[in-house]
Order: sequence, then structure tokens, then C-alpha cells
Amino acid sequence: MEKLTLRGFEIYKGLLNSATQQQLVDAVREVAKAAPLFSPMTPYGKPMRVRMTSAGDFGWVSDRSGYRYSRAHPDGMAWPAIPAPVIKIWNDVSGSDRTPECCLMNFYGEDAKMGMHQDRDEGDFSYPVVSVSLGDDALFRIGNLERGGKTESIWLTSGDVVVMGGDARLTYHGVDKIRFGSSRVLAKGGRLNLTLRVVT
Ligand code: SIN
Ligand code: MN
Repeated sequence: MEKLTLRGFEIYKGLLNSATQQQLVDAVREVAKAAPLFSPMTPYGKPMRVRMTSAGDFGWVSDRSGYRYSRAHPDGMAWPAIPAPVIKIWNDVSGSDRTPECCLMNFYGEDAKMGMHQDRDEGDFSYPVVSVSLGDDALFRIGNLERGGKTESIWLTSGDVVVMGGDARLTYHGVDKIRFGSSRVLAKGGRLNLTLRVVT
């Protein structure tokens, strides 16, 4: 494990060993059985390139009326509980006295990416966002507190954990691309990213 800091984001390279990664993938699969992955529509009317679901008291959803947290999956069911091994990661790295209320699970297929954005739908920015990478490598880009300007990128690989908090809590970030098939953690390729958040 190696810890580095890039523009205020704390990056734990290789924090999770392969047994833990596999346990997390299995846990995500269980969540997706109860609360299926869906392709959200952006408020601009274009479907997002990632497929997603959530666990916890709240899930993150998007449709024509905007981005928001919701207590129910778009199909109507409550979200499953956040799996215990995911909570453990939060407890290990977040430095937070509260339990996460949302674990957003994003699946990146071959051509998926995520544009530069801030995570700003939460009620209290003093709590960090903790991000867990599983499966294929992803080129993660970190910008600034305002849109635009110079950026720096880093490849995130399976088992890496990023803490986006403190002065960098509202820093713009995104995923330019994945290296499809670079990891064997997901049998059919692709990448899973879990983000943990205190919502209220
Ligand atoms: C996100 O910003 O929500 C996802 C980041 C990632 O996929 O690494
Ligand atoms: Mn984000």
C-alpha cells in the first residue's frame, strides 16, 4: 500500500487485497440482484454512460427533473443495506464520526466515462466522499474548485481507495476512460466504482 496526495485527494494505492476485492464484488452483485443496475437519464436528456445502483438509506438518481438523492430505486424498491465490508473501508479511511448513508455503485463498461463534475448534492461538505475502485483501470482526472483550469490525472486500479475531503471536497473530478479488460477482478471486464457519502 502506498498513500499519495494529489490536489488534496488522498489516494491509497492498493489498499484492498484481492480477497477483499472479490468479497466486495460479490457484495455488489447481491445488491444489484435486489436493486438492479439502471442507466440514468441526465437532466439534459442524454442517458449517462455508466450504469448504477445504490445501497443505504439513500440512493443517487437522475432523471429529467435533475440529480438528487432518493429513498427508493426508480423501480420503487428500497435500497439494500450497505454491505459490511464497504462500511469497514469507510471506517478505516474517512476519519468521520458518522456512518455513510449512501453507497453509489457505478459500473463502467467498455466505452463508459464520466465528465468533470463536483459532488455537491450532499447536505454537509465537512464529510468526505470515499471512492473504491474495482476491476479495470480508470484514468481519473482531478481539476480545481471551479470548472476549468489545469488538471492532473492518475490511473486508478482495482483495490485503490480515494478520499475526497477537506479543502478538496468540492474539487472537480471525472473519469476519462477505462482500460477495458485490464483486470480479471470482473470476469467479463469493466469497472466498478463505489462512492460512500453522508447525505443529510
Ligand atoms: C465519481 O466521481 O462519482 C466516480 C469517480 C470514479 O469513478 O472513480
Ligand atoms: Mn464524483
